[in-house]
Amino acid sequence: MNSKDQNVLVCTFSKEVHEGLTAFPKYLSSKFFYDETGDKLFQQIMALPEYYLTNAEYNIFRTHKTDIIHSFDSKREGFNLVELGAGDGKKTKVLLKELLKKNYDVTYHPIDISENAIDGLVENFDDELPDLSVEGQIGEYFEVLDRLQHMSDQKKVLMVLGSNIGNLQHPRAIKFLKKLNTVMHPDDLLFMGFDQKKHPQKVLDAYNDKMGVTAAFNKNILTRINRELQANFDLEAFIHWEVYDPESGTAKSYLVSTKKTTVDIDSLSLQVHFEAWESIHTEISQKYDDDTVKWLAKDSGLEIIQSFTDTNSFYKNYLFKKII
Ligand SMILES: C[S@@+](CC[C@H](N)C(=O)[O-])C[C@H]1O[C@@H](n2cnc3c(N)ncnc32)[C@H](O)[C@@H]1O
Repeated sequence: MNSKDQNVLVCTFSKEVHEGLTAFPKYLSSKFFYDETGDKLFQQIMALPEYYLTNAEYNIFRTHKTDIIHSFDSKREGFNLVELGAGDGKKTKVLLKELLKKNYDVTYHPIDISENAIDGLVENFDDELPDLSVEGQIGEYFEVLDRLQHMSDQKKVLMVLGSNIGNLQHPRAIKFLKKLNTVMHPDDLLFMGFDQKKHPQKVLDAYNDKMGVTAAFNKNILTRINRELQANFDLEAFIHWEVYDPESGTAKSYLVSTKKTTVDIDSLSLQVHFEAWESIHTEISQKYDDDTVKWLAKDSGLEIIQSFTDTNSFYKNYLFKKII
C-alpha cells in the first residue's frame, strides 16, 4: 500500500470515529474491527461451533464446486475473479483449487480494507497455490471499485462471501449492489453469500459465543481507538450485547457502557461522555430470505440466475447478472 492510500485509511478512521461518537445514538462501523488482532479474532470466530456461517459456505463450495466454477466461465474464455472483503481467502481456496485443477484461465484479485489480511492471504497463496495469478489490493470496497472501473475488458466475476453484505442495512446494501452493477459489463457476474433467516436462538448464539471471542472482537474497536487515536477507553467498563429481531432479520451488536464515564480521544481533541448503560452500535448482521434478496437485486438492476444452498439450508450463495 502506498503512503497516500495509507493516509486515506487513517483519515477515514479518524473522521468516522469522530462522527460516530458525537452522534446520538452513538455508533462505529464494523469495518474498523479488522486490524492484525481483529483479523486473528475473526479467524477464531470462524472456527467456533456457534458460528455456523463458515461451515455452511464450506459445505456449499465442497458440494457444488464443479457447478459453481462452470457457472463462472461456462465458455472457458478466461476471467478475473474479484473478491471484495476477502479476509484470509480460506473458503475461496476450495473454488480456486478446483479452477486450477480443471485448467481454467483465472486471475484472482482479493480486496480488503485490512492490509494485514491481504498480506497474509498473498503470502499463503504464494505457498499453497504457486500456479495461481494473484493481484491483491488494499482498500475500502467503494474506493477499490472505482479503481476497478479501469480494469481490462476481460470478463469479471465479482465475489462477496461470508455474508459481508449483511453488514449493510438495506438502503446501503442497494447502494453497494448498484455500485457493483456499474462496474459490471453485460457478461460479468456477481457471486454473493447471504445468510438466511433461521431459528432466532441459532442467530443470537453465533454472535454471542460462550468463550467470549465475539465480545473480544467487538471490543477490539475500542483497543484500536485507544492505540491509533490516543484514547483512554476502559475496556472493562463496556460489555458486548447482541440482539436479533426475527421480523426484520437484523442482528445488532452493541458495546454498552456499564457506568457514567468520560473518554478522552487526544488525537481528535475530543471528550466523549457516556451515561451509565449508554450504547455504541457497532455491527449489523442481516439475515435474508429469497424474496428479500430478489427485491434487493431488482432495485439494483440485477437478477438472480442461480443459487446454491447448504444441507441445512442455513445459507445461500446467489449468482447474479445485470438486467439489460
Ligand atoms: C466477515 S469478514 C469475511 C471474510 C471473508 N469474506 C470470509 O467469508 O471468510 C469481512 C472481511 O471484509 C473486510 N471488510 C469489511 N468491511 C470492508 C470494507 N468496507 N471495505 C473493504 N473490506 C472490508 C474485513 O477486513 C474482513 O476481512
